[in-house]
Amino acid sequence: LFGLPDQAPHERVLLAADEQTGLKAILAVHSTARGPAFGGCRFWSYDNELAALNDALRLSQGMSLKNALADLPFGGGKAVIIKPAGQFDRAALFAAFGRAVQSLDGAYITAEDVGTTTADMLGMQAHTQYVSGIPRAGAFGGDPSPKTAWGVFVSIEAGVRLHLQRASLDGVRVALQGLGAVGWHLAEFLHKAGAKLVVADVDAAKVARAQELFGAQAVSVHEILTADVDVLAPCALGAVLNLGSVPQIRAKLIAGAANNQLATAADGDALQARGILYLPDYLVNAGGIISVAREYRNEGEEQAVMAEVSRIAGRVEELLGRVKASGNTPARESDIWARSKLVKPA
Ligand code: NAI
Repeated sequence: LFGLPDQAPHERVLLAADEQTGLKAILAVHSTARGPAFGGCRFWSYDNELAALNDALRLSQGMSLKNALADLPFGGGKAVIIKPAGQFDRAALFAAFGRAVQSLDGAYITAEDVGTTTADMLGMQAHTQYVSGIPRAGAFGGDPSPKTAWGVFVSIEAGVRLHLQRASLDGVRVALQGLGAVGWHLAEFLHKAGAKLVVADVDAAKVARAQELFGAQAVSVHEILTADVDVLAPCALGAVLNLGSVPQIRAKLIAGAANNQLATAADGDALQARGILYLPDYLVNAGGIISVAREYRNEGEEQAVMAEVSRIAGRVEELLGRVKASGNTPARESDIWARSKLVKPA
């Protein structure tokens, strides 16, 4: 289990089970070198427990790299809750999860991820103080997805400028996979900047709304990755850049919110060989963790957090400079860069 490819060892992995509520969760603390491990909690139906463990281990490692590149004083961790097959009491389930988080004594701090909501975080507050992403009346906090979308947006802008040599997004064609919490906000930012959107989602209602509000072109979920566009923004689930899709991709730039977009490191090499610039997911999608981390530290203020998220564009530029100097692919170079920062911040 601990020798999975691309995996550095984890510091701690807690398997939490609670018969009364049906909770089955994995809390993975990858690294606390920079500070407590901070990363969201995913609520998902998995084929089996091993698949859930693999997801938790991959995602928590990604959080270490993400938090390091974002210069946050936090390590990397992530939790997954396996969605019970039958009926369950959601509030009770998340209460039990909150107690599991608390049992780690602050080694892990949780927040939203796919399948969890601000209401889940709010409910958990009674059971653990190690939770963020909570709406707070009159104060900074809550849903991190608009901040994530903003970070992806400024990364796309930087990539378009530096790789496509285009001064603005006006008329740039962007394929957006997934119109969820992040994807929808990203669509708004892109539309406002004059980009032409091609969209796909399994939820037809979201697609119809994007057609109506943004004049987006709709394609099927099978066609979105290979659409004839300048930019591809994966904002649904992971491992979409794989042996099957990479040879077919027509975009010249890939930057999106989804975690773990590359199925393997070799897929990053294959993209590079095709002249496609892949901006690593954990570099561009750090806006959300920046938001919940500032909220958690009581340092949240809308303008300041947005300015901090905007600095992701400068990191994209720095990464491309490093890539030029080393000859590595962006994916491999960002990995080296992030790992060099897995130490306590000065
Ligand atoms: P979400 O669950 O709100 O949205 C995902 C969307 O993708 C949904 O609309 C869903 O219907 C759609 N979808 C699912 N399968 C699809 C398919 N095969 N083709 C097209 N669309 C499909 O999730 P959210 O929060 O927007 O996150 C999206 C991705 O970004 C996830 O991978 C998440 O881990 C990652 N992420 C999210 C952050 C956040 O702040 N919410 C922060 C960092 C990463």
